[in-house]
Amino acid sequence: MKGIVFSEFIELVEDKFGLEMADNIIEESNLPSQGAYTQVGTYDHTELITLVGKLSEHSGIAVEDLVTLFGEHLLQRFLALYPQFFENVNNCFDFLDTIENKVHIEVKKLYPEAELPSFDSQQSGQSMQLIYRSNRPFSALAYGLIRGSASYFKENIDIEMEDRSSDHKSFVVFTLTKKEDHA
Ligand code: HEM
Repeated sequence: MKGIVFSEFIELVEDKFGLEMADNIIEESNLPSQGAYTQVGTYDHTELITLVGKLSEHSGIAVEDLVTLFGEHLLQRFLALYPQFFENVNNCFDFLDTIENKVHIEVKKLYPEAELPSFDSQQSGQSMQLIYRSNRPFSALAYGLIRGSASYFKENIDIEMEDRSSDHKSFVVFTLTKKEDHA
């Protein structure tokens, strides 16, 4: 997994939980990289899982909730780092449609060693189905990124998650439903 994901995670921990927490979880995790991430480097994705586990132990917050929070944060960071992917897209469903067919394709060109999930998407009226498949267990990250996308477009979207994963293979069906705003 690309260093950018790790460095953004460490920054989030520093911002929300403090420098000491960040240092402690890195030290206790005994990582092959020792937590010295560069944006262009590539690291084992299990390092992220170890770090989140340690943060959960120390903070008392469930792993899934921490990863979701990280996904929401990451979407905002992607907006700052890759604004071109947000141009000419006017709503959340259309944006999510571009991840598989455009965004992650460009990411793969930039970083050929990136390990990306696949998304099958289908829109119909007020709802959208997004099927996440990956060899890695990051559906909670996808959930956070979807939530972050909805808030970026200021849309009120209900997200249901049906986990049909088996050993080492993630397969999660997200059903998104647009809600009317009661402004
Ligand atoms: C501008 C928007 C986006 C950019 C630039 C982007 C870029 C990336 C990058 C660089 C990675 C790391 C790959 C690696 O390190 O090997 C990644 C992974 C991932 N992306 Fe995106 N992404 C974007 C939006 C999204 C959205 C909206 C979703 C959810 C619908 C999503 C779902 C994921 C997931 C779940 C992973 C973790 C890897 C896995 O599950 O196998 N991404 N993305």
